[in-house]
Amino acid sequence: MSFFSERIGQIPPYLFAEINNKKAKMIKAGVDIIDLGIGDPDLPTPKHIVEKLSEEAQDPKNLKYPSFVGCPEFKQAVADFYSREYGVKLDPETEVLALIGSKEGIAHIIPTLVDPGDYVLIPDPSYPVYRMAALLANALYHNMPLTKENNFHPDFATIPKEILGRSKLMFLNYPGNPTAATVELPFFEEAIAFAKKHKIPIAHDSAYNKVTFDSYKAPSILQVEGAKDIAVEFGSLSKTYSMTGFRIGYVVGNRKIIKALSVLKSNTDTGQFTPIQKAAAYALNGDQSCVTQYNQIYKERMAAMLDGLKSIGVEVDPPKGSFFIWAPVPEGYTSAEFVTNVLEQTGVIMTPGNAFGPSGEGYFRVSLSVPSERLYEAVNRIKEKLKLVIR
Ligand SMILES: Cc1ncc(COP(=O)(O)O)c(C=O)c1O
Repeated sequence: MSFFSERIGQIPPYLFAEINNKKAKMIKAGVDIIDLGIGDPDLPTPKHIVEKLSEEAQDPKNLKYPSFVGCPEFKQAVADFYSREYGVKLDPETEVLALIGSKEGIAHIIPTLVDPGDYVLIPDPSYPVYRMAALLANALYHNMPLTKENNFHPDFATIPKEILGRSKLMFLNYPGNPTAATVELPFFEEAIAFAKKHKIPIAHDSAYNKVTFDSYKAPSILQVEGAKDIAVEFGSLSKTYSMTGFRIGYVVGNRKIIKALSVLKSNTDTGQFTPIQKAAAYALNGDQSCVTQYNQIYKERMAAMLDGLKSIGVEVDPPKGSFFIWAPVPEGYTSAEFVTNVLEQTGVIMTPGNAFGPSGEGYFRVSLSVPSERLYEAVNRIKEKLKLVIR
């Protein structure tokens, strides 16, 4: 007898389980493990944001049930951010919704727009939540392969007609996790035209929108004329301001989709703690030098790791955004074999590409979100200890 729903039964076993077992054994044996598998920034939340959080937490009126849709200060701060950064005008009342981290909104938009048996179009490889949330909503998904040949952009023309007719939502994500790929505005123009032609709403996940390097500025999909007719964009404070533990994000764009999502949410959660929303508003409105400073640190770590990988014959073009490196495994290895080999020889954990979808096979992901001295130690171990066995 099983107590569990078919839905839960569909969620595949955790792909990291084997690596985690190995990690636990190695730690027990005294090996100094450096974990480059996690995507949680090590850099601290800037002090002014934390101070604002504690200040707001002193005010008794902030300790009541929060607004379901987000407090006015936070929604206005998001609207101001879009106006400043992208020249996109948003009505904070109807076109901005606060989320308890963008992950929550990403998971909830599927049952908002997609019925059981409908399709969700998902980039492959991608953030696993798109795929798992589709399964949990009893929806089907179609993988849109992201390949190096296509600069890790989906080729819309290859989506089968019969699937297009049954698709109710498409996810996109740039700068991308895990590929670190970026786009320019014409890609979004193409995506919006395609979405309108086939009447498929787009949810663009812009979690890494401000984690960018040099002169590259990641566009917003809402910069495309008429994008609000068919698209929403998810955003997060987690990565830009190292606020992962705060759990605060937002979704902006099409007001009908936002309204429907808020109906679902108001029946499942009661919004984020008001002091967190006010601290997030302060982060968006305040001094942005912390963002520049953190991006510079990621850029330096990126250069060091790219150099380390080059020393073992793995060459990757420097990414323009995100804190990930998406690299091909050396000849003769599967993703799992390669990361296991790296772990055994160096104590460094990387993520096998197939953890992000079938098209991730043949790749591995390195996350740069560990303290710089540990990152440089990992680079040294790769350079000195990693001996690849050519098969
Ligand atoms: C691509 C992508 N989207 C969304 C998220 C979720 O971010 P949060 O829920 O912290 O806003 C993550 C976190 O790792 C991510 O990598």
